[in-house]
Amino acid sequence: MKITVIQGPNLNMLGLREQNIYGPMKLEDIHTQMENYAKQSNVEVEFFQSNLEGEIIDKIQECLGESQGIIINPAAYTHTSIAIRDAIKAVQIPTIEVHISNIYAREEFRQKSLIAPVCAGQISGFGPFSYHLAMVSMVQILSEIKAMQEAQKQQEPKQ
Ligand code: DQA
Repeated sequence: MKITVIQGPNLNMLGLREQNIYGPMKLEDIHTQMENYAKQSNVEVEFFQSNLEGEIIDKIQECLGESQGIIINPAAYTHTSIAIRDAIKAVQIPTIEVHISNIYAREEFRQKSLIAPVCAGQISGFGPFSYHLAMVSMVQILSEIKAMQEAQKQQEPKQ
């Protein structure tokens, strides 16, 4: 089981960027915490960050046949990118959208996500802990899918 974590533009600046909103934690420290949880849960995790919309779309497409779950913080593309939304819809891999800040408590232009309707769920506003909540939720989704697949297999007629 593999989960791919995709980080959008400017998230490589965490720790330096608008600390009053995003806090002091660096992206690599968030990833270390996620990796620890993944290890405990026996899942593989891969991390990817890009400031470019096309590279994020390529990464989502590469998840086909490689990853069973996607956790994505599309950052500013949340509010603008039909192309990222279409890529998530196309691959049909369970996806969770994450935000560090509560996008619904901020400027009006941040209060709309084009991505959320094609995701299993959205986690927004818990600081860096949002990522941990997303990992816990994704591990749960994957174990439910696995249990369903096993139950279906048992119902198949034996040849
Ligand atoms: C963000 C919220 C977005 O509106 C913003 O553009 C970001 C970060 C968040 O994690 O809170 O870059 O996705």
